[in-house]
Amino acid sequence: MSDKLEGFVGGSAIHKTERAFMLSRIRPHYTVLEVGTLDGVTVAGWARYYPHATFVSVDPFRVGTGTGAGNEERWRKNAGPNQKLIVGTLEEAHQELVDLGDLFDIIFLDGDHSRDACLSDCHNAVQYGYDDGDICVHDYGRTHLPHLEGVTRAVDEFCEEAGFEVTEVSRTIAVLGRKV
Ligand SMILES: C[S@@+](CC[C@H](N)C(=O)[O-])C[C@H]1O[C@@H](n2cnc3c(N)ncnc32)[C@H](O)[C@@H]1O
Repeated sequence: MSDKLEGFVGGSAIHKTERAFMLSRIRPHYTVLEVGTLDGVTVAGWARYYPHATFVSVDPFRVGTGTGAGNEERWRKNAGPNQKLIVGTLEEAHQELVDLGDLFDIIFLDGDHSRDACLSDCHNAVQYGYDDGDICVHDYGRTHLPHLEGVTRAVDEFCEEAGFEVTEVSRTIAVLGRKV
């Protein structure tokens, strides 16, 4: 299920309160990394709202556990001048992310929802976060849904292994921060 938003093609796969929650965390000059973008509607909305912030999306545009494939053509139609796309998984995007030279203020994880993929994304994300970044994971707590339950396991395991904790939950978005 995805929401149509006026002025964009395709849909946003996150709830409107989650779009607003993320928007409230972004600041005008932030750099934001999104992993799993679908049609790019969600991120293009944020990018339009914050024209001086920079948004990078990473997506291999293929079917994954708990998700259909994104659409690169729609992503490019939706994108604004302050957006960049890297086609691939977060692991495959490594060199391009290093070459960009920017660390990210916020990292939004919403790619493949299997436990293994999400755990790998959480661990990989840490290196791209400015001051550990603000890692936000979508679909946390949906343990009653077999295709999404891996996200909660992955987040909890990641926190245990990496010394992080869930500092806040907004609907199904978990915000992760390093334990102090
Ligand atoms: C639920 S959608 C993302 C929704 C998007 N964040 C939004 O707000 O509308 C999941 C996306 O993950 C992508 N995907 C599949 N496997 C992936 C992987 N291993 N790494 C990153 N993204 C992946 C799919 O192509 C799809 O576009």
